[in-house]
Order: sequence, then C-alpha cells, then structure tokens
Amino acid sequence: MIITVVGARPNFVKAAPIHRAFGAAGVQHEICHTGQHYDDAMAKVFFEDLGMPKPIVDLGVGSGTHAEQTAAAMVGLERFFAARRPRAILVVGDVNSTLAAAIVAAKMGLYAAHVEAGLRSGDWTMPEEVNRVVTDTIVDLLLTPSEDADRNLLAEGCAPETIVRVGNVMIDALQQHLPAARRLGVPARLGLAPQQYAVMTLHRPSNVDDPCVLARILDAVAEIAHRLPVVFPVHPRTQTQAAAMGLGRRLEDTPGLIAMPPLGYLEFLSLTAEARLVLTDSGGLQEETTVLGIPCLTLRENTERPITITDGTNTLVGSDPATIIREANRALDLQPDAPHRVPDLWDGQTSPRIVKAVLERI
Ligand code: UD1
Repeated sequence: MIITVVGARPNFVKAAPIHRAFGAAGVQHEICHTGQHYDDAMAKVFFEDLGMPKPIVDLGVGSGTHAEQTAAAMVGLERFFAARRPRAILVVGDVNSTLAAAIVAAKMGLYAAHVEAGLRSGDWTMPEEVNRVVTDTIVDLLLTPSEDADRNLLAEGCAPETIVRVGNVMIDALQQHLPAARRLGVPARLGLAPQQYAVMTLHRPSNVDDPCVLARILDAVAEIAHRLPVVFPVHPRTQTQAAAMGLGRRLEDTPGLIAMPPLGYLEFLSLTAEARLVLTDSGGLQEETTVLGIPCLTLRENTERPITITDGTNTLVGSDPATIIREANRALDLQPDAPHRVPDLWDGQTSPRIVKAVLERI
C-alpha cells in the first residue's frame, strides 16, 4: 500500500489527483488525514468536492501550537505506519502535517517522497519555510513543480538523482474540476457579473495576527471596494483574530466588501475563475490565478513561488495600503483576458508523472 498524508486544506487539493492516478495505474493507494483541519468547511467538503474517498484514518490532531500539532501528528502517524507498513509515503506541500509525516517516515526507514519539493521563500519567520527545508532534507525523493525548485535543492546539496521535476499537481485538480465549478455559477448567485468583482483570501499569521497589519490591509481593501466589489471568504483563523482585535464589524460594514464563511473547493473555483482580480496571501492561489490568467496581488513581502511572477500573473505587494491600492488600480486598468504564459509542466498531467517516478523507485 502507498499512503499520501494530508492535514490541511491545500493538501487535499494535491492529494486528490495523486489518488486518482495511483488508481488508474492499478496501485493500492490510501489517504491518511492527520486531522489538522477538521471543520466540515475546511476538510469534509474538500473530500466530497474533489471526489476523494474517506481517508483510511483520521488521526484527530486538531489545532494547537506548532509543537503540539506537529507532535500529535507524529505520535499518530508513527502508530499508523507501524500497523500498516506502507511501501511508500507521499507528503505534500508545507504544512505542519507534512513535516510530521516526513520526520516519522525517515525515523522508521520508510520510503518517502515530497510533492512540491524545493520551494523556498527565504523567509524564516514563515513556519512553512521551516517545514519545507526540513522535509526536503530528509525525504528520499524530491518531486518539484518548477525549475527554480530544482535549483534551490541543488544549491542546498541534494543529490541530482533524487530530484524529479513533475510539474504542479494542483493544476491537475483545477483542470479536472473547472467545468463543474463553472456550472455552479457562484458569482451569479451572489449577484455578481463575470469580471466585475475581486476575490480576496487572507490567513497568514504575518497578516492576520497583528491588528495594525490587518487594519491596514482592510483600509486598502475598503478603497479598492469603491471600484469593484471584493468577495472575501474568511478563514477561521482570520475570523477569530479579527473578532479578538475588534475588527469584526469592519468585515461586515465596509461598503463593497462581501465577507462570507470559507467556501468549498468547487464553489471557490467557481468564484475565482470569473474574477477580475485576486488579492491573497495563499500559496496555491498564486498558482491557480497564473493558470487562469487572472491578475493576482500577493499580500506578502516574498514568495516561494517566484515562477508565478516571472511566468505568470502574480505581483508581490506586501501589506502597505498605498502599494496595494496602486497595484490594484494598475491591474484593473489592464485589458482583461490578455494573453498569458503558463509555466512548463503545469499541464494537468503531473499526477501520472508522480506515480511513474515513485513506482520506478520502490
Ligand atoms: C495551515 C498551514 C498553512 C496553510 C493553511 C491553509 C501550518 C503551519 N499552516 O494554516 O501553511 O496555508 O493551513 O488553510 O501548517 N481552525 C478552525 N477549523 C479548522 C482548522 C483550523 O477553526 O478546521 C482555526 C483554529 O482556530 C486554528 C486556526 O484556524 O487554531 C489555525 O489553524 P492551523 O491548522 O493551525 O493553521 P492555518 O492558519 O489553517
């Protein structure tokens, strides 16, 4: 049996095409969920939308400090791997569950592959950067999405034969589900016309855990919302922090800002696919907008996905309101649907390449 470990929302989107591709190759593959994300809106709806089977196990890890969450996942995974002895373990992305699974597999001598290896922001204040670097140091196989990732790994001394560029597996999910997502018509349900609204997501601790930073971002968004409506599905972390900081009313009362609970995969894709502009601090959304050809303003000082800038639609804007507003206006003044480039191997065929690379080596 081959196991892919998932924990948080973006992991589910990467695991779904991998599960399907192993099935197509006739190989037994199961999903192990640590339970890092546990709300129906953060987990269950993604399994349903993406057509994934129920996970073979849900370790029920839940929320906590980084140490609590990572440690709880490690304890659960060690017991689970010991009972099942999988032939190989796949870890995806850069969340705490990714790190936990990679460490446990390494200590148990189990073959492990990292999907989305080699991405680097160079920003050690990001918990994900620690997770990425440690994971890539201890797994057996490094499956990368882009050439910059290969270069990062080689510069860190990884053996060339352990690096295989497979492309971006999130795009497999996007291509597969885009027609069904469009049919949902989420913008119309919200009374929004195609290309006449923006979408925003925000959940990084650096943006939402500091009241000054969050307030400044909301100032900028209030200004942009004069020009077009901004739809904002709010991550639970952001909801909790905004309420604790006394900013909850601003989410509800800002004219043109449409705040709502988190959306499932298909509903969110339905919304973004027709958007005129995206503002985000998510990693995956920088990639999805690049493929969809939608201007993306990333509310961070750096990105581990620089290819979305060089070969895509992404612009880094940080959290300074004047920069955010200026870049939003610049993007909105551009011709919509301008021709755009897509990075090599972001072609919807990454999951079969992952399966081939893993099977060749085990
Ligand atoms: C995690 C990942 C981040 C990823 C994000 C996607 C780490 C270090 N961070 O961040 O890289 O971009 O997932 O969403 O692994 N909560 C709920 N319900 C849930 C899950 C979380 O209410 O189902 C709330 C809890 O208050 C929790 C907080 O959100 O404390 C943060 O959850 P956590 O999993 O620790 O980190 P994320 O911010 O979601």
